[in-house]
Formats: sequence, C-alpha cells, structure tokens
Amino acid sequence: MEQGPYSEKVMDHFKNPRNVGEISDASGVGNVGNAICGDVMRMYLKIENDIIVDAKFKTYGCGAAIATSSMVTEMVKGKSIEEALKISNRAVTEALGGLPPIKMHCSVLAEEALRSALKDYYQKQGRPVPFKDKEHGGHEH
Ligand code: FES
Repeated sequence: MEQGPYSEKVMDHFKNPRNVGEISDASGVGNVGNAICGDVMRMYLKIENDIIVDAKFKTYGCGAAIATSSMVTEMVKGKSIEEALKISNRAVTEALGGLPPIKMHCSVLAEEALRSALKDYYQKQGRPVPFKDKEHGGHEH
C-alpha cells in the first residue's frame, strides 16, 4: 500500500476513530461546518464540576477531519474546561504527527467543534462565555 502524505497516527485515527457517537445527556454540544468543503462535525461533551469526563463526536467529513476530531476527543477527556480551551488545532495536529498543509483547515474544524461545545455548556449553565469565537477568516482551503 502507498504510504501517502499522512502520518501513521493520522491513518490510525482515521481507520479506528476513537469516541465516535453521541452522548444523550451531553452537557454541551457543538456543531460546526466548513462552508467550502461542506464537511460538518458535531461534538458532545459530558462535563462534571467543570471537568470533561466524556467526549464523543460525529463527523461527516474527510479523513483528516475524522482523525483530528478523534484525537481532540482523546485529548480533552479528564481536562478542565479552561485547559480544554487552550487546545489549539496546531496542538491536535502535532499530536497526530502532522498534516499536509492543504489539510490544516480540517483540524480547525475540530478545534471549532470543541469551542462550540464548550460555549454551549456555558450558555446552558447561564454562565458568561469566557471567550470569543475565533476568527479563522484567513485560512485557506
Ligand atoms: Fe473538509 Fe477536510 S476537506 S474538513
């Protein structure tokens, strides 16, 4: 089989994505989409005392989007919501051993899904959202 531009970790998370599914009593749900490629991602977080105890996702998207959402759900489990907010798409990509530059925007989708789910959590609790939506206007597809 051809090796291709993807790291082994990306291929592993693409073929065996972790945490696929939904959480019926999620504390926060995030929905994001990329208007250009049409890929969409939904992320579910279960949060207890501001600690993320479970995370699941559904992605209708490319392999890089699946791999990054798989990795980000692994990374946030056990983290506080403040720590989770610091996870950037770059950190997720690095944990996967890198992505081809043309696929970096797919990792942005994973970061946005996480932030969207956290925002939903704050709003459901009636707490002020302590961050702004990130401007990703400059990224290329
Ligand atoms: Fe759309 Fe990857 S091509 S998220």
